[in-house]
Amino acid sequence: MEEKKIMCIGLVCLDIINVVERYPEEDTDTRCLSQRWQRGGNASNSCTVLSLLGARSAFMGSLAPGYIAENLPDVTADDFKRVDLTQYKWIHWEGRNVDEQIKMIQRVNEYNKDCPTDQRITISVEIEKERDDLYQLFQYGEVVFVSKDVARHFGFSSSAEAVVGLYPRVKKGAYLVCAWAEHGADALGPDGRVLHSPSFPPETIVDTLGAGDTFNASVIYALSKVSPLGQTIEEAITFGCRVAGKKCGIQGYDGIVS
Ligand SMILES: Nc1ncnc2c1ncn2[C@@H]1O[C@H](COP(=O)(O)OP(=O)(O)O)[C@@H](O)[C@H]1O
Ligand SMILES: *[C@@H]1O[C@H](CO)[C@@H](O)[C@H](O)[C@H]1NC(C)=O
Ligand SMILES: *[C@@H]1O[C@H](CO)[C@@H](O)[C@H](O)[C@H]1NC(C)=O
Repeated sequence: MEEKKIMCIGLVCLDIINVVERYPEEDTDTRCLSQRWQRGGNASNSCTVLSLLGARSAFMGSLAPGYIAENLPDVTADDFKRVDLTQYKWIHWEGRNVDEQIKMIQRVNEYNKDCPTDQRITISVEIEKERDDLYQLFQYGEVVFVSKDVARHFGFSSSAEAVVGLYPRVKKGAYLVCAWAEHGADALGPDGRVLHSPSFPPETIVDTLGAGDTFNASVIYALSKVSPLGQTIEEAITFGCRVAGKKCGIQGYDGIVS
């Protein structure tokens, strides 16, 4: 039987990257050293990383026929009904249109109820933006990624503080993960132990765009390899920080595994 896939639901977009000598000051003109167009979007970035790591990945989101598109619709629960769940072992949602996303997650929960344990789909969610409606998602993921922006919004000043302070919001048995740039990342699970990984900075920081997506994808990859889930959450965040650190040392993603 073919290995089941990991699906990420969210955005794909075009990132136009201008490389400049230094961070520009407001209202000044700066000559670019180079420009490149690169596929971006958080779910799409994570799919790229998953494939580079050797996982079978799938992306679900709206695509435009050309370069320029505005207001592409978010994936709805109706769209999601067409997904053949038997093909997946893990589904990750980038928090956006929460009400629809909760319906999709409920569909997966129903599916899981009738599944033998080893065929179940693991659900993870990501909460990046400081938006009240998104916070409902805390209680829906078995693995929940929360950004440092959201953590700061709640008044926390480190990833360790954030996972402890926000843990009461997640569902029973879940893991909460928070990455904090050069400080690495922390995770907290049902056993109450706060686990930390340092960051692994490259010799020179070249490009941090999508470092967070690289981290999430690598954590998901590591956790999806083992059962029961969680035996190696500590190894998973360490792996996440290693791959994300490697990514910061190169432009784009080619070369994160080598
Ligand atoms: N300057 C850096 N040096 C080393 N590692 C980094 C750096 N920036 C990001 N990382 C790695 O990427 C992970 C995610 O970084 P983070 O800044 O939280 O993501 P983003 O800003 O892309 O949301 C961190 O946990 C860390 O492992
Ligand atoms: C990964 O998680 C971070 C929060 O730590 C978030 O900012 C980013 O958008 C996430 N990417 C995906 C694909 O979920
Ligand atoms: C999310 O995607 C956008 C667009 O590609 C990118 O600018 C941003 O760095 C990504 N966020 C993370 C946390 O990787």
